[in-house]
Formats: sequence, structure tokens, C-alpha cells
Amino acid sequence: MFYGLNQSEGKVLNHVLGITDSLYKKVFHADMLITCERCLGFMDDKKFVETLKKIAKTAQERSLVWRLHTQMWAANQCLGLPGDFMECGVYKGYCSDFMVNYLDFAKSGKTLFLHDTFEGIPEDQRAGSPVRPGGYSDEGLFESVVARFQPYANVKVIKGKVPDVFADGCPEQIAYLHLDMNSAAAEIGALEVIFDKLVPGGMIVLDDYGWEWYRAQKDAEDKFFAARGHRVLELPTGQGLVVKQG
Ligand SMILES: C[S@@+](CC[C@H](N)C(=O)[O-])C[C@H]1O[C@@H](n2cnc3c(N)ncnc32)[C@H](O)[C@@H]1O
Repeated sequence: MFYGLNQSEGKVLNHVLGITDSLYKKVFHADMLITCERCLGFMDDKKFVETLKKIAKTAQERSLVWRLHTQMWAANQCLGLPGDFMECGVYKGYCSDFMVNYLDFAKSGKTLFLHDTFEGIPEDQRAGSPVRPGGYSDEGLFESVVARFQPYANVKVIKGKVPDVFADGCPEQIAYLHLDMNSAAAEIGALEVIFDKLVPGGMIVLDDYGWEWYRAQKDAEDKFFAARGHRVLELPTGQGLVVKQG
């Protein structure tokens, strides 16, 4: 069973998979995660698979399938709560486009706020953040993301540096946040504003929390949440999950 793998992962994992494939009937390998004999119930969800086919354009995007499952589960749980949805760290808008389609977000009665510099991680927020080649600053990025979400009246694309940009638009009450900026300073800056606005039962999915590359984020976020009586659930996907207590 194959769910998409990028080239560099392929090289590292091939010999491991040679062993697991011969021992087990159902092996998942993608996004630096290998599992054996798991149900993978999300792949039985017709709408989830249809959305993946519609929105994912590359093997790398398809490989994020388990992370998307986490996000869709959390976002769906939060649909019934008061408050709006947010993503800080949007890049090309892949995860949010997936969510808007999978959840029929246009009918939700909520607004989705999408915040990004659309020019990469600001210089002064890069400590502890390995910046990938290209640095998320593709030519025409902002315009392409605005165009991507133009069909949805309840999605706002806001360009600027988090947290300063919240002055240009930030919901009063927040039900769901996807935090994905690959920067400890940016994410703590965001949480300092957002956490108090998160309603009880509201959820935060921290995309980078469990990755060794971004340990600076885990350390800073553990400290932030502990000071507020919360703990992060580290997921095998590399994500972290926080549920706001009442
Ligand atoms: C890993 S990408 C986000 C991927 C995205 N969630 C997706 O669905 O593909 C990280 C993004 O965070 C943005 N970013 C980093 N620091 C930021 C800051 N302080 N303010 C706004 N955006 C920031 C970068 O510009 C980049 O687009």
C-alpha cells in the first residue's frame, strides 16, 4: 500500500520498507512515518479521499495525508463551537484549501482568517528555525493565494508579520487554530494573542511541534502551555494537539 513519498525519504526508507513489506500486509509509509497493520480509517472516508484527489497536486502534498486527517478531525470537532477559524503560516494555502473543501466551510457560518507574510519567516524570528531553500517567498505568492480563496466569501487572506498583523484582522473568539510558521518566536507571538481568545473546547494543531528540526518550538510551546495549565499531545505525525480547558 503506497500513500506517497518524496525522493529523499525514499532513499532512507527503502531498506526498512523491504523488511516491513515482507512481514506485514498493510504498511503505511509517507511523511517520515511508517506504520504496520493500522486501520487507516481516514482512507475509508470517501469525502476525505475525494478531497485529497481534488486538492493535492504533488506527491509531497499527498504524503501529508495523516497530518491532514489530524487537522480535519480537530477542525470538524470545533465547527459546533462559537468562534472563527485561523491558520498562521499559509504558504500556498494547501491545508486550508483542503479544509474549506472537506468541511464545506462556506456553509459553516464561520470565517477563516489566513495570516502569512507571504515572504517567508522574518529575519528576526529565524532563531532555531532551519530555513528551507527558497524560504517560502515564491514570486507572486500572495496574489496566487488570494486567487485560490477568492471563491469563498468567508475566507480572509491577510498579509503581514504575525503577531503584528493581527491588528489588521483577528477574530474576537477563536474555535480552531492551525499554527504552522516553523518559527518559535512567531508562534509564541501568535499564541500570546490567540490563546485567551480560544473558546473552551477549542483546539490548536501545532504542525511543527514534534519534529527534532524545530525543537526550539516544542521547548517554547511546552513552557507557554505549562504556564497556562495545559499540555500538548505529541502525535506520531510530528504534530502537537492542544484542547483549551474551560
Ligand atoms: C510551512 S509553511 C506553511 C505551510 C502551510 N500551512 C500549508 O498548508 O502548506 C510556513 C509559512 O509560515 C510563514 N511565516 C513564518 N513566520 C511568519 C510570521 N512571523 N508571520 C507570518 N507568516 C510567517 C512563512 O511565510 C511560510 O509561508
